[in-house]
Amino acid sequence: MKKDKRAAIIAGNWKMNKTASEAKELICDLLPLVKDAGCTVIIGVPFTDIAVAVELTKGSNVHVAAQNCHFEDHGAFTGEISPRMLTEAGVEYVILGHSERRQYFAETDETVNKRARAALAAGLKTIICVGESLQQREDGVTESFVGAQVEAALAGMTAEDLKNVVIAYEPIWAIGTGKTATNEQAAEVCEFIRKVVAKLYCEEVAEALTIQYGGSMNAGNAEGLLSMEDIDGGLIGGASLKPNDFAAIVAAASK
Ligand code: PGA
Repeated sequence: MKKDKRAAIIAGNWKMNKTASEAKELICDLLPLVKDAGCTVIIGVPFTDIAVAVELTKGSNVHVAAQNCHFEDHGAFTGEISPRMLTEAGVEYVILGHSERRQYFAETDETVNKRARAALAAGLKTIICVGESLQQREDGVTESFVGAQVEAALAGMTAEDLKNVVIAYEPIWAIGTGKTATNEQAAEVCEFIRKVVAKLYCEEVAEALTIQYGGSMNAGNAEGLLSMEDIDGGLIGGASLKPNDFAAIVAAASK
C-alpha cells in the first residue's frame, strides 16, 4: 500500500494547556479553519476539556483524543481515568506512552502496552508514542531502542487491533525544542518502524499503519516532513495551540 492509500492523521497534543473556557475559544477558532480538511483531524485535550471539546466538535470533522488512560476498568486508582470513562464521554482516541508520561510519570513499555490494550478493548483508537533521546541517537542505538519500544507497545495485539493503532515517532530531542528532525531523519525511523511492524505481523498490516512524526512540527516544516513516503501525519504540541498554525499543518497533510 502506498502513502496515498493510508489515513493521514494530524493530531494536536495540547498537553497541560487550556482551561475549559480557553478550550472553547480555541476550538471555535479552529473549526472553520479545518472544516475542509482532506485528512483526519484530532485534538488531544486535557481531561477537564473533554466535555466542552466533544460538545463543540459534534457534527464536525474534528475528533477528540484524551492524553492518557488507565488499564483497569474501575477501582482504587486515585487520579486515574479509565478507557470506559473516556468512551462514555464521547472520546474516540487516546494518546499513550508520550515521552513526557514516560519521563515524568514513570510510564514503562509494560504500562504503555497495558493501557493500549485496555483502550482498544474499550473501543478507543490509540496513538502510541515512541522515540529516542539525544544520547541514544548519538550512541547509535536509535533503531534498536525504538524497535524495542514498538515491539513492547504492541505485545499481545492482533492484526485486527492494529487497525485502531497509530504510531507516533517522536524523537525526544525534537519535542518542544524547536529542533525538528530533518525530513530524512524522521522518514528513516518511520520506515524502520514500518519494517518492525511487518516483521511482527505482515507486510499488509505494516503498509496500512498510519505512522506520524512529532517533535516541533510547525506550519513551516510540515509540508516537507509530510511529503516523505513513510510519514503519514503529525502529532503536534506547541503549534496545535495556535489555530492558524495547526490549520496550516492540516492543509499540508491534505495535499
Ligand atoms: P511539540 O510537541 O510539537 O511541541 O514539539 C510534540 C509532542 O510532544 O507531541
